[in-house]
Amino acid sequence: MDLRGENKGYPYPLGVLQRIEKLADRMNRPSRWLLPEGRPELFVGVDLGTSYVVVVVVDDQGDPVGGMMQFATIAREGLILDYLGAIEIVKGMVESLQKGLGIQLGYASTSFPPKTESANIRTTQYVVESVGMKVLKIVDEPSAANRLLNVQNGAIVDIGGGTTGIAVVEDGEIIYTGDEPTGGTHLNLVIAGRKKISFEEAESYKLEHQAETLEITLPVIQKMATIVRDHIGDRRVEVVHLVGGTSGLIGMEKVVEEELGIPVGKPSHPQLVTPLGIAIACTEERSVQSGRREPLRSV
Ligand SMILES: Nc1ncnc2c1ncn2[C@@H]1O[C@H](COP(=O)(O)OP(=O)(O)OP(=O)(O)O)[C@@H](O)[C@H]1O
Ligand SMILES: [Mg+2]
Repeated sequence: MDLRGENKGYPYPLGVLQRIEKLADRMNRPSRWLLPEGRPELFVGVDLGTSYVVVVVVDDQGDPVGGMMQFATIAREGLILDYLGAIEIVKGMVESLQKGLGIQLGYASTSFPPKTESANIRTTQYVVESVGMKVLKIVDEPSAANRLLNVQNGAIVDIGGGTTGIAVVEDGEIIYTGDEPTGGTHLNLVIAGRKKISFEEAESYKLEHQAETLEITLPVIQKMATIVRDHIGDRRVEVVHLVGGTSGLIGMEKVVEEELGIPVGKPSHPQLVTPLGIAIACTEERSVQSGRREPLRSV
């Protein structure tokens, strides 16, 4: 599994980076899934993306306990196209996690790209419910990312496989969300055309030849930055935070920074930020519902 895209680019709080690193370390590695002492309640985040299905388990403090991710094409541009396939994949992952941790997982959160129709949001919920978990919260993707990053002022841009989600945050509140059908799939198409290889070969090529990918796909990345600029409009944005798998492309943050003229930050393993944020949203919701305490802060 590839979890590249290490440059941090922005001084994120240590607690945020440690959580991401912990998840990266435990991702798809059952030998590292350890039940925390005292057997606290566990919470699950399910991200049904265009390119990857990711399931993250956190404890009651939002700390990663285990996780699985798998390349899968069950959705396109945020819409679930293969309902049964989605159930099968999520079921397999949840069962593996339950077996590895020796515990039943009961509570989950899931997500949707901003501006998704309510019917599709319900489909996502049904997928998670049909594997036996109660859905406590459904959050839009860039807002989920902010459950982890805890940005007070800035924009969060989640560039995934098929969609780019944008959220503008002011004084800790999300004041705008937008969504565009652009992402890693478009980079693959450009690479496939240029190198005369298949889409699947382009996917591997992209991960193995980062510098050349940046060069070949520069116009697409510049276009993505223009899209982000249009969404930001005249809102005041101090920093743009890049998350999502495609943001993992080494050097992408510099191109976006140049185009926007705004500082750009990118946490390590940007692909894991939104899935982890979804799981943290579940923990927070449980706290609020059970009246135990205020929502958790990210760090
Ligand atoms: N280091 C990297 N460089 C370039 N692209 C990368 C890198 N790592 C992952 N990707 C790409 O990121 C995409 C997957 O990212 P992510 O898991 O965030 O998307 P998703 O959630 O499945 O899709 P979406 O959010 O659009 O529905 C794929 O296109 C993959 O090729
Ligand atoms: Mg995504």
